[in-house]
Amino acid sequence: MERTYVMIKPDAVQRGLIGNVINRIENKGLKISALRMNVISEETATEHYSEHKERPFFPSLISYITSGPSVSMVIEGGDAVKIMRAINGATNPVEAAPGTIRGDFAIETGRNIVHASDSVESAEREIAIHFSEDEIAGYTKIDETCLYE
Ligand code: RTP
Ligand code: MG
Repeated sequence: MERTYVMIKPDAVQRGLIGNVINRIENKGLKISALRMNVISEETATEHYSEHKERPFFPSLISYITSGPSVSMVIEGGDAVKIMRAINGATNPVEAAPGTIRGDFAIETGRNIVHASDSVESAEREIAIHFSEDEIAGYTKIDETCLYE
């Protein structure tokens, strides 16, 4: 099964949206394999968003992501990477469709509630940044026989 890395960003934690985000993930049928709340260090945030290092928004992105507690998760399921990106919606909440997390809860790109890895390769890289393998639970969920052919 495919794995992806999801972060509920500090703005969403402050706004009391942890449960709502997790509800959507569970309702879809995806499985939570790891979950932690912590304040991400500047070093970890810089490594996580290293692809954006030269972009003008990078300093504000790092201060946003490290501004308070966030929730990190490993999410598992068939096509988990693509499905999580669809659940999150477009990066800019103005363009995010209603029904997506960003479409329903956000206004600005710089405060867009959630992160999800953009490819299977990114997911493996990001999971390794945020979790050690022994923090990731390998288990079968009873609903899998209903979710998959
Ligand atoms: P993410 O990595 O957080 O899941 O978001 P994404 O793939 O949809 O978008 P990405 O291009 O990777 O951008 C990463 C995050 O940087 C912030 N951002 N700010 N002010 C700006 O122009 C701008 N552009 C991007 C957002 O928080 C975005 O989610
Ligand atoms: Mg991204």
